[in-house]
Amino acid sequence: MRFGRARFVGSYPDYKQAPRLGLPEIAIGGRSNVGKSSLINSLVNRKKLAQISKTPGKTRLLIFFALSGQNEKEELFLVDLPGYGYARVPEAIRRSWGTLVEKYIEASQHLKGFILLIDSRRGIEDEELQLVEYLLSLDKKICPVLTKSDKLKRSQGSEVVKKTMDILGRFGENVHYPILHSSKNGRGNMPIWRWMSERISDES
Ligand code: GTP
Ligand code: MG
Repeated sequence: MRFGRARFVGSYPDYKQAPRLGLPEIAIGGRSNVGKSSLINSLVNRKKLAQISKTPGKTRLLIFFALSGQNEKEELFLVDLPGYGYARVPEAIRRSWGTLVEKYIEASQHLKGFILLIDSRRGIEDEELQLVEYLLSLDKKICPVLTKSDKLKRSQGSEVVKKTMDILGRFGENVHYPILHSSKNGRGNMPIWRWMSERISDES
């Protein structure tokens, strides 16, 4: 897919309310504040399409963006998911977010892949591993993206890629090689686009 335009479609407290255009969907998930909205802006080269939150953990909605190819025809939805693991959120609300995300992942017939964001300074932790196992149990394809790589020294970058690979390598071909990314300088956007293009032309 050669990218043309991006459009904010809407935010929904429930997948049932999301538009049914039959387009393939790519979900963007990870801890709150990991850089999900920034990644979307960086991928489509827009500063303010997705809102960057000053107060983490605010997004409690499925946020849909439609992307078109060069002929203007809309070809895919990017879905910005609520972040998990924000400590200051009460347990009950935390659970309801989990339910929202799980219901979406399990109900969507169009979800072609899941971009899992991991802070490159923290690396993979228990929550990410659980999410990987959950997604694979539903036969979903995962693209691990290590965010904020501009904050690392070069040697730290290759180290976190290796560590992530050591942990995720055993899951096989449904998990892509970890991509080092920075929304500040666009590093990693190309391989993510390549993975997304493969996902939307994937018939399975
Ligand atoms: P929630 O929606 O609250 O879950 O957060 P999010 O995952 O969407 O993160 P968001 O994109 O809002 O970014 C959180 C903070 O990290 C912001 O202050 C961003 O400017 C910063 N940030 C995101 N990506 C990068 C990056 O690649 N490099 C650097 N240096 N900062 C980043
Ligand atoms: Mg966000």
